[in-house]
Amino acid sequence: MSAPTPENRLLVFVCQGPSCTERGADATFAAMHQHLLAGDGTLRRSVRLCRTTCLDSCATGPNLVRADDRGLLTGIDAVLVDELLRNWTRRQAATD
Ligand code: FES
Repeated sequence: MSAPTPENRLLVFVCQGPSCTERGADATFAAMHQHLLAGDGTLRRSVRLCRTTCLDSCATGPNLVRADDRGLLTGIDAVLVDELLRNWTRRQAATD
């Protein structure tokens, strides 16, 4: 993985709209934040976590979007966060 810089960090937008919040988006955001703070700091330097408003898919939340592929990821509860971030890290390493 190349050294992360502010320019090449992965931007992740976690919906904080009312439906996603009701479905656990706060816990999803908190779990992602905790994972980013853990370890040697590589992940924290590689990912920028952002809050966003409604992504217009309220029935499937908690929802988030990666800025690089713009794909909507749905139903991302706190339990799925670890697996999701591990997959992203592997994917990033494979493209470097
Ligand atoms: S509240 Fe999250 S998609 Fe609408």
